Amino acid sequence: MKGLLLAGGHGTRLRPLTFTGNKHMIPIANRPMLYYGLEHLKQAGVSEVAVILGPITEGIREGIGDGRQFGLRVEYVTQGEPLGLAHAVKCARSFLGDDPFLMYLGDNLLEDGPGPYLDAFRSGSPSAVVGATTVRDPSHYGVVELDEQGRIVTIEEKPKRPRSHLALVGVYLFTPEVHEIIDGLSPSARGELEITDAIRALSEKTHRVRVIRLSGWWKDTGQVADILEANERVLATRPPSFFEVHGEVHPGARIIGHVGIGPGSVVEEGATVRGPTVVGANVRIGAGAYVGPFVAIGDGATVRQAEIDRSILMENATVDLPTRIVDSIIGRGTSLRQRTQRPAGQSFVLGDSSQVNL
Ligand code: DAU
Repeated sequence: MKGLLLAGGHGTRLRPLTFTGNKHMIPIANRPMLYYGLEHLKQAGVSEVAVILGPITEGIREGIGDGRQFGLRVEYVTQGEPLGLAHAVKCARSFLGDDPFLMYLGDNLLEDGPGPYLDAFRSGSPSAVVGATTVRDPSHYGVVELDEQGRIVTIEEKPKRPRSHLALVGVYLFTPEVHEIIDGLSPSARGELEITDAIRALSEKTHRVRVIRLSGWWKDTGQVADILEANERVLATRPPSFFEVHGEVHPGARIIGHVGIGPGSVVEEGATVRGPTVVGANVRIGAGAYVGPFVAIGDGATVRQAEIDRSILMENATVDLPTRIVDSIIGRGTSLRQRTQRPAGQSFVLGDSSQVNL
């Protein structure tokens, strides 16, 4: 079985974070989100993976390289403009050959690994296995309606009036039967070759598309609020072994709950770090800081003073403010400091599409 990991698209809903890099490299619990998908592909026993690249490629090749660090052989397929998930499969046609493949949307995070897909694939001979889970508002997703035997009745992409609450998760297992189906697809109203249309046509042709119900949490990280929720979920569900303390914690600092601290980091006297929280390497947490829970701090960052709750600070960010920061994503090298010069007041240097909520 081969792996297909999608990292294309523009990531417009995550601006400004996506002006300077690919959205799939945004860190969740201090690891680029794309790495979680790679890990699942590895767990599935896949050894060869093609990563689909779109218009914004920064950081991906540099981070993943040839895949060796993940125990995988990784190659890259350029899709360019995001013409749809089925179009991405088409672009990878020669890589995929006649093998079955596990396709993973790079912006999806799910607690259940690939196990349920593989189990369904091995029991019977489905032409595809797709995952579904119940959501409150299904109209943002592919939506599947099932009969009592769990067979597909309808399957639609982002329907205005959803016929069920079952959303399609962005992980799919396909046999090569899907290629002929994709060759016959036409672009949807939004101009994309939709994977949902491919699944519908495959199901109508073979009657062998299995829909499995996933029970663990699932997050499509399309927007800032989703990234923060994914960060929270990942931190909340990592095993205790994930939270190792390598840095230096002053005896007068307080560490509460599961906290990971990378090498070279210092938690100074008087600082508090509350888990689940992860702190990268060479980070300084000063006396006036109260960090956590659900915070991820990237390498080289500094928090001199501030209370920080449920937030992501990326590499080399600096926070030195007598205030409480919640539900925030602070980009690489960004600094939040108190203004010391006159005239007194708040001063901002913000890139395009930045957000400040005081
Ligand atoms: O997250 C699950 C949903 O993913 C499913 O319920 C939908 O049926 C499916 O169409 C998809 O919907 P989204 O609107 O969330 O897809 P999005 O455009 O956000 O793209 C998903 C991922 O695939 C994202 O990581 C970017 C990448 N991508 C997307 C397109 C359209 C590509 O690599 N190439 C593309 O052409």
